[in-house]
Amino acid sequence: MKLGKSKNKSKAAKLIIDNKTYNLPIYNSTEGESVIDISKLHSQANIFTYDPGFTSTASCESKITFIDGEKGILRYRGYDIEDLANKSDFIEVVNLLIYGDLPNKKQLKKYKNLISRHTLLHEQIINFFQGFRRDAHPMAMMVGVMGALSSFYQDSLDINDAHQRQEATRRIVAKSATIGAMSYKYSIGQSFVSPKNSLSFSENFLHMCFSNSAENYKISPLLAKAMDTIFILHADHEQNASTSTVRLAGSSGANPFACIAAGVSSLWGPAHGGANQAALEMLEEIGSSKNIHKFIKKAKNKNDPFKLMGFGHRVYKNYDPRAKILKSICQKVLKHVGIKNDPILKLAMDLESIALKDKYFIEKKLYPNVDFYSGIILRAIGFPPEMFTVIFAIARTAGWTAQWTEMTEDPIQKIGRPRQLYTGKKSLIYGKNRSKKNTR
Ligand code: CMC
Repeated sequence: MKLGKSKNKSKAAKLIIDNKTYNLPIYNSTEGESVIDISKLHSQANIFTYDPGFTSTASCESKITFIDGEKGILRYRGYDIEDLANKSDFIEVVNLLIYGDLPNKKQLKKYKNLISRHTLLHEQIINFFQGFRRDAHPMAMMVGVMGALSSFYQDSLDINDAHQRQEATRRIVAKSATIGAMSYKYSIGQSFVSPKNSLSFSENFLHMCFSNSAENYKISPLLAKAMDTIFILHADHEQNASTSTVRLAGSSGANPFACIAAGVSSLWGPAHGGANQAALEMLEEIGSSKNIHKFIKKAKNKNDPFKLMGFGHRVYKNYDPRAKILKSICQKVLKHVGIKNDPILKLAMDLESIALKDKYFIEKKLYPNVDFYSGIILRAIGFPPEMFTVIFAIARTAGWTAQWTEMTEDPIQKIGRPRQLYTGKKSLIYGKNRSKKNTR
């Protein structure tokens, strides 16, 4: 079905500027907020709209993911995240996100086979890794190697060829786990472990991270399931910063590997995917439940840049449904690895309970988000904090490639080119008014 056809034009908004009325069409969504179409406003009224941070702007039409932030609902292609986390697996979710429907058994088997055929990396990429410093953050390697894939897989760069587009999405998803595991191995000075295609996506990732030439890592089904659930929960989240970055990069016609590398960069920031690492580091800094009030006070202080990491969300004004699922997995994983009373988990739960009773957090509707508990689970599985955002990036390749595919196939897609409110200097004459001070 062609995008754009589904827009249900029902009413119009009226905008009056200097006594002139402009009728702006309103389109209804299937669920959630409607949108006002302002795309003709500049040509009709010679004015722009202003919305830094896009707090009231829908940047595209999409059929992939739905979020109801007030109710705490997240759905991929119509399926509740809880259902998918309990009943599906990551590769089935990738297939669902990209193709729009759940695959049947035969389709899924074929798709899993296609993905596993792409887990290996070109041998020369190993040389590429040697160029990084050993103390490089694994996300730095993720950004670099993801972009470098465009130089190795030149037969899947033509965005106008449907087969090449699909091949690129499969390569990105499959190779992201291998790149992520190699970044980890490189950072700890161990040799790379080749993928094993007889394993599931999540088992294989654990195998590539934790096996070594001296001993085979015994994959625990419970930890593999926890890993898989983490991948499912992070797979997509509609038009967040990194996904919008992928779409904006792709809107110029850039190749898919370059676009996903742009998404990885955007994800790295502590306000986005980097929050899982930051949340665990914050818990370690708080150290003990007796210090919670001091840190809550810091978080509420307008003059202090400190924020409670893993708390708050642009869209959720209720408990993040992903955090709810992770909180319940957390206990099981800790028990399984033999951590009876994890002081960090106790601290996290105490912090949550104190913050949720605090007037500031209640009024601003700040709840734990996906990054609050994920770090505790990943640490129990054996990952250092630097790997948390890498794992988020591996999972999000599913959403990024699905959103990139949807955008590329959208007949009304055009290059993204926001405008600005210019507040700089007016025309100056070169050479006049040159500063006499040497302060810079
Ligand atoms: N701790 C203390 N105060 C907060 C927090 C927090 N974690 N989050 C928001 N606030 C305050 C904020 O200072 C602002 O106060 P005021 O109205 O007085 O100016 C108010 O709540 C609204 O916040 P905002 O920053 O305008 O909200 P936003 O939608 O721009 O930002 C956010 C959302 C996620 C960036 C922000 O809540 C935050 O920085 N949280 C901590 C980092 C974090 O956990 N990020 C992960 C997000 S979920 C995973 C992902 O999508 O990557």
